[in-house]
Amino acid sequence: MTKNFPDGFRWGTATAAHQVEGGNWNNDWWAWEHTEGSPCEEPSGDAVDQWHLYDQDIALCAALGFDNYRFSIEWSRIEPEPGLFSRAALEHYRRVCASCLTHGIEPVVTFHHFTTPRWVVAEGGWHTASTVDRFLRFCEVAVGALGDLIGRACTINEPNIVATIGYHLGFFPPGLTDDTLYRQANDNFVDAHRRVVPILKAGPGDFPVGLTLSMTDYQAVPAADADAQAGVGRMRWVMEDQFMDACAGDDFLGVQTYSRMRIGPKGPIGAEEGYETLEMGYEYYPESLEACIRRAWEYTGGAIPLLVTENGIGTNDDDQRRRYVTTALEGVLDCIADGIDVRGYTYWSLLDNFEWAFGYRPRFGIIDVDRSTQRRLVKPSGEWLGRVARANALIG
Ligand code: BGC
Repeated sequence: MTKNFPDGFRWGTATAAHQVEGGNWNNDWWAWEHTEGSPCEEPSGDAVDQWHLYDQDIALCAALGFDNYRFSIEWSRIEPEPGLFSRAALEHYRRVCASCLTHGIEPVVTFHHFTTPRWVVAEGGWHTASTVDRFLRFCEVAVGALGDLIGRACTINEPNIVATIGYHLGFFPPGLTDDTLYRQANDNFVDAHRRVVPILKAGPGDFPVGLTLSMTDYQAVPAADADAQAGVGRMRWVMEDQFMDACAGDDFLGVQTYSRMRIGPKGPIGAEEGYETLEMGYEYYPESLEACIRRAWEYTGGAIPLLVTENGIGTNDDDQRRRYVTTALEGVLDCIADGIDVRGYTYWSLLDNFEWAFGYRPRFGIIDVDRSTQRRLVKPSGEWLGRVARANALIG
């Protein structure tokens, strides 16, 4: 098997505003972190202060060998009150994009990554149709200010996770377990994605636009059991298919995956004996990337180019990170060999950062951050993945 990736294959790393910037007090996540009884282990606080240190982080990303950096813009900073747009915040993100370009890497901008302004949530949130209109207005203003500097745009990051964990499992804000509202949130996200694509396209600049979707390798156990298979089908529909349907005609689909889920005749069953369970509670299972790419390609009939927009592992064992990524990339190479159009790989994450309700415990970064000094220290896995990116080949 060749270890080379095709010419033009893109290599990047990713972060999201709330997980790295710090001080994002005006969104629903900050409120959730400070809500008594919420499952958050600790508040985000200053995070890793990327609001101030972005240039350093982007310089590191570029120096390691990556050609793009995926980050998100924070709606609650850009529109702190309804219709009040912060020129200063927009200028800040112009500087972030410009820093990428100065360091020779492409800015990949996500317009919504989990967080929503407090005022939007106070007026309803994602189960309310008016949130879609508010989101579209925000995107129109933001793309108007930033579009000429954007290299690639991601509309909404993992809407399926925001809806499922926020409205069905109650672990993320708004902390509900209400299946009617869950359905409405899913529908609104689908609607928001469909309607925002032409808005982003109509702004300044000319860049690919797509959705980034959380995918899982859903496996029926036993494989031939009809009830288990039906369970997999239901899971796929609610988590993946309805969103992939909304992506028809897009420039790319962002595949993001971390593990698998085994589903028995009566629903999800836990880890398989002999498999290691990671800090986040799921199995070490890097093979999920190949499975999810194949499934996305098959479901969309090969009509949408794919890009791995997130893949990674939260671990303190940096050798394990390298093993995980190696297996995942072998899977990508296999897919490419079979003619699947996979155009790039983005590692989550550039930095150890705020892992939502889990706080700072899971360490996904290829760069370690000492949060008492905000000092960055590249891990060996980062040096290695940078070499892979430069060689455009899975080298040791
Ligand atoms: C999210 C990230 C998160 C990562 C690791 C993805 O679901 O987009 O924000 O940190 O997974 O759990």
